[in-house]
Amino acid sequence: MTTSLPEGSPGQRPDQPASRRFLEFFSGIGLVHAALAPLGWSCAFANDNDAKKAVTYQKNFPGVTLDQRDIREVPVEEIPTADLATASFPCIDLSQAGGRRGIHAEHSGIVWSFLEHIDSLDREGRAPKFLLLENVPGLLTLHGGSSIDVLLHEVARLGYAFDLVQVDARHFIPQARNRVFIIAVKNAELATGAEMPDTHIRRYKVREVFERNRHLPWVFFDFPSLPARSVSLDDVLLDIPKGDPRWWSAERMKYFWDHLEKDHHTRLTELLHSRTVTQFTAMRRGRRRGLREQIFNLRNDGLASCLRTPKGGSSIQFVVRVGGGEVEVRRITAIESGRLQGVGLSTHNPGYVFPESEQDGLFGFGDAVCVPAVQWVFEHSIQSYVDNSRLQTPLQLTMDLGVAV
Ligand SMILES: C[S@@+](CC[C@H](N)C(=O)[O-])C[C@H]1O[C@@H](n2cnc3c(N)ncnc32)[C@H](O)[C@@H]1O
Repeated sequence: MTTSLPEGSPGQRPDQPASRRFLEFFSGIGLVHAALAPLGWSCAFANDNDAKKAVTYQKNFPGVTLDQRDIREVPVEEIPTADLATASFPCIDLSQAGGRRGIHAEHSGIVWSFLEHIDSLDREGRAPKFLLLENVPGLLTLHGGSSIDVLLHEVARLGYAFDLVQVDARHFIPQARNRVFIIAVKNAELATGAEMPDTHIRRYKVREVFERNRHLPWVFFDFPSLPARSVSLDDVLLDIPKGDPRWWSAERMKYFWDHLEKDHHTRLTELLHSRTVTQFTAMRRGRRRGLREQIFNLRNDGLASCLRTPKGGSSIQFVVRVGGGEVEVRRITAIESGRLQGVGLSTHNPGYVFPESEQDGLFGFGDAVCVPAVQWVFEHSIQSYVDNSRLQTPLQLTMDLGVAV
């Protein structure tokens, strides 16, 4: 099925045939790209000022113009015309770990530069028809909700109506990674005040945002139920042989046992002599129990915790293997981190080229998006709309995309 945006739609110059082109801001190691390319979208321009991530991006997507300047230094005339702009902008100021400084702080505040570019493109009559923004759930609640409110107001001021959903990667991959997506459509005709559908991806904090901002232009895409996950933690974890130096020494294992949460100590001891090998992920948490050091906590739900850039003790994730009379512990690898973001598995983007070093991989994947989660959100919103002009009633977009299906 070939479809295209109509002649003369926003996001199209007369000299450029419209064809599902996107601008990938904050492109990192390209996992938004990896999500959209299989759906038929081609990247017209990417931007990220991290030189190490750029190496990985270019290896995976050699044909794409990757601009490595600070987004603030990119002149609008160098940004090509496209149908969609994506922004998985820095989360550090929106998360607990980063001090919750807010949407105007140094790092996360860079989203305003993205929106300034959209504004400039609009003034040239070539604003993208769609925007896709992604960030952490802290965005919904930060500073009494004012961070998300001000962001949505700006998106609305730029002429977009939007949906807001919260999706956890655990429905696709064994990683607990809850993320918020703003999916925006330009020139939509609105039924303001329409009810937000009571679906699993729009509950609690998302609904509170809607209640506070009913007066803004909302559109509600028709998402299906979240799928049942088919990938297990065992599918993701490498089978690293006993004796490999990545497994901890006896001395470090003593430290591990001494700093293991009491209940988890009991659980591992129970599993120790089982013939079956069981694998867990673990993190160090700040529970003190009279100790100065953090203690190790095992996850018992078959998931990895949310990957983060490994900058400090509590952001590093470990693998614990128990059974057959042994307990072994090691740090999670870059390959496993990539798999937890949905690349490098036989079922998920097997051809993705990984960052060259272990450290670059841990940093790149810790900061990236989960490919199948982004793909699911995109497929059932923008992609579905372009394919079928399908929005949840009673909302209709004024613009007929003239899509041939
Ligand atoms: C959350 S990460 C995005 C990850 C990306 N989507 C991926 O899949 O790898 C945010 C990105 O914003 C980039 N960034 C931060 N400040 C920037 C700026 N001023 N100009 C350009 N890129 C910036 C960082 O280098 C980082 O890669």
